[in-house]
Amino acid sequence: MPEKKKVLVLTGGGDCPGLNAVIRAIVKRASQTPEWEVWGSIEAYNGILRQPQELVLLDNKAVAGIHVKGGTIIKTTNKGGPFNWPVKNPDGSWSGIDRSQELVQLLKNQGFEAVISIGGDGSQRISKALHNLGVPVIGVPKTIDNDLGATDYTFGFQTAVQIATECFDKLVTTAESHHRVMIMEVMGRDAGWIALHTAIAGGAEVCLIPEIPYDIQKITERLNSRFDNGRGFAHIVISEGAKPKDGTVTARAATEAGYENVRLGGVAYQLSAQLKAAGCTADIRETVLGHIQRGGTPIAFDRVLATQFGVKAFEMVLAGEFGRMVSYRNNTITTVTLEEATARYNGVTPDSYLIQTARGIGISLGD
Ligand code: F6P
Repeated sequence: MPEKKKVLVLTGGGDCPGLNAVIRAIVKRASQTPEWEVWGSIEAYNGILRQPQELVLLDNKAVAGIHVKGGTIIKTTNKGGPFNWPVKNPDGSWSGIDRSQELVQLLKNQGFEAVISIGGDGSQRISKALHNLGVPVIGVPKTIDNDLGATDYTFGFQTAVQIATECFDKLVTTAESHHRVMIMEVMGRDAGWIALHTAIAGGAEVCLIPEIPYDIQKITERLNSRFDNGRGFAHIVISEGAKPKDGTVTARAATEAGYENVRLGGVAYQLSAQLKAAGCTADIRETVLGHIQRGGTPIAFDRVLATQFGVKAFEMVLAGEFGRMVSYRNNTITTVTLEEATARYNGVTPDSYLIQTARGIGISLGD
């Protein structure tokens, strides 16, 4: 039997509902062309760079039913990568070394004719750099933050919004019963998409996003106006990357080797203290949703989008369309170069229609 052609699939960066649906779609589409086989590299490029290697053959049996599962069956990492591989120094500190040339050789020697990298902006920057070194790579965009400029939506985002909205709804009944201000902190890093969608869907009074620094006095006035003789209730949705005017984000110390992001989380507690100091009269409670937003089963929209991305990615392999990323634009599946994929950040613009909608129903954006 002739040797099969091999494509390597990997998931990089934070996990996100829908990753498994992409993997399944790639494998199912590839199984229609029997000369191809699909391999998974465990934990992004670690699986191929590590000794012993961790590569798994992905066939229809391996991916049966996984589209409904959260996470990724081939694992992921957001620490380091082939250009910045973390190594421990004798003194216990860590540094990053460049193993990209070694990776290029390994891919060639092991007969991989294509690589499909499913990941966010960091992963697609790695894809672009590897493509510049001659690797036949194709990108698939993912992130719950929805902050990639070259696609209208990334899968995982709608699921995160759905989870956050369901949590918001639960907080409403308890806020109402106790006459409280509830602060709910959501993810999104530098982009306020999850917060804004959740605030509109849930019916918050205040929504604070990284793109619009907040004025604590204005929020306090808005909240106090909701309470009459100590009775009333109110909801704030705050994005983890939100900050006060003239202030900074609430960050935590990164303790993991090779972790390059600023670790956010906890701004809800800062806001609570700021509100009390500014004269907010009501009792306040804080909820930080954290990784709950990334867990569990993807909603149908994300399963469908992820499946479309997976099928398209494998068809790009067949067509030899390397150095490009799959994208969803104007209700259709298309492709963009990896240059375009990583060129523009997709944050909420203050004049966007979603902001107008929020203001139009009386949501305070804290400005
Ligand atoms: O980028 C996706 C995201 O979930 C952000 O919203 C969040 O700030 C970050 O990842 C958390 O990363 P980690 O899983 O490393 O804590």
